[in-house]
Amino acid sequence: MDKPLSSQSADEAGANLKPVNIGICGLGTVGRGTFEVLRRNAQVVAARARLSLQVTHVGTRREHAGLDLGASRVSRDIFEVARDPGVDILVELIGGTTVARELIEQAIRAGKHVVTANKALIAEFGNELFALADAHGVEVRFEAAVAGGIPIIKALREGLAGNRIEWLAGIINGTGNYILTEMRDRGREFSEALAEAQTLGYAEADPTFDIEGIDAAHKLVILAALAFGIPLQFEAVYTEGITHLKTQDVEYARELGYIIKHLGIAKQNGAGVELRVHPTLIPDHRLLADVDGVQNAILVEGNAVGPTLYYGAGAGAEPTASAVVADLVDLARDMRAGRACRVPALGFAPECVRSLPIVPMEQVITPWYLRMEVEDRTGVLSTVASLFSERGISIEALIQKAPAPGETRVQLIVLTNPALQGSVDSAVAALGALDAIHGTITRIRVEALDG
Ligand code: HSE
Repeated sequence: MDKPLSSQSADEAGANLKPVNIGICGLGTVGRGTFEVLRRNAQVVAARARLSLQVTHVGTRREHAGLDLGASRVSRDIFEVARDPGVDILVELIGGTTVARELIEQAIRAGKHVVTANKALIAEFGNELFALADAHGVEVRFEAAVAGGIPIIKALREGLAGNRIEWLAGIINGTGNYILTEMRDRGREFSEALAEAQTLGYAEADPTFDIEGIDAAHKLVILAALAFGIPLQFEAVYTEGITHLKTQDVEYARELGYIIKHLGIAKQNGAGVELRVHPTLIPDHRLLADVDGVQNAILVEGNAVGPTLYYGAGAGAEPTASAVVADLVDLARDMRAGRACRVPALGFAPECVRSLPIVPMEQVITPWYLRMEVEDRTGVLSTVASLFSERGISIEALIQKAPAPGETRVQLIVLTNPALQGSVDSAVAALGALDAIHGTITRIRVEALDG
């Protein structure tokens, strides 16, 4: 049970001021979680907001049996919420990028602030939505859109405002991280781990967005815009999923002292900004290597603060609701102070947003893990090594597995030093043309995560 607030705090909670009226559209997992958090934490939320927050209107096509909606008006037409003159803040929790976009635009035009958990909408249409909100003197808040309950938007927008952000790297899809953890710890193959994630309700029935990296790319685009002051540009992200990963690669990586994680990486360098989502080998002693199961974590390197790490639940009803309610509290504080739009949506003043070039992937430099099946005969290893050295790629480590009884082929695993992707592409093409090499060459990038 929450302790009652003192009388002084009750005053502070704005007992005599008009409450903030909230309209919630969508009563799925996050909508229900938001109701529950607002109900259970009403006192502490009011004390922090210095105003009381009440849900006055709910837009839902679903049944809401078992959920006490109190005195809230309920509309089956969600646009009724956007039209309701009594609603101060509209919370969009329906998802998708068509109806949700229209709903948010209507709410903005009606002079309402908006809170959303919709990463696809922000990543793909955020530039337009923020401009529209600016023109109407209202805010669109989206803490819940990235990494569920982790307050990473607030951290980048405000907590790290004194830093030039050099790079960030995050485990920002819980389903993918669960699958990779199962492959590593239980030796499951990808498809088996995915089926389990679906059974446990982590992955969607159609998990394409999770396993193909699209969900992570949506989140990365938002983080990169906040970190570097660039526009949201979803189409510019290099996006590679985890569907092609094999349990043997997870094992070999471990032998070499690495863990495979599916990372979203954004880096600023002299040439521009790298934006990429892909499986990555990371040293097993890094903190990110210990982020397992459905948890998320984001490592952010600022030039004043150094490395900082944000960890927590990246999805789920109440963790995501925690972020939604944080945005509501922030907006209520601004409303009470009569100064909305104090912090620009993406942290940088709109006139300071920069159009930095996105670095083409051929020019990205990382070490590489490569695995190939080769004929076990004299001279093959030296041919492979010379194809790398001719392209200026130096080999850091190499493992050759003994052939299985009766087999003439072996697995060859090569770990390179940092190399231009273009050079590695060329080496892989040359290797693929050798008759001593069979099948597809597996290639995974490596990140040291140390600067
Ligand atoms: N499908 C997402 C994940 C949920 O697995 O992380 C939160 O965005």
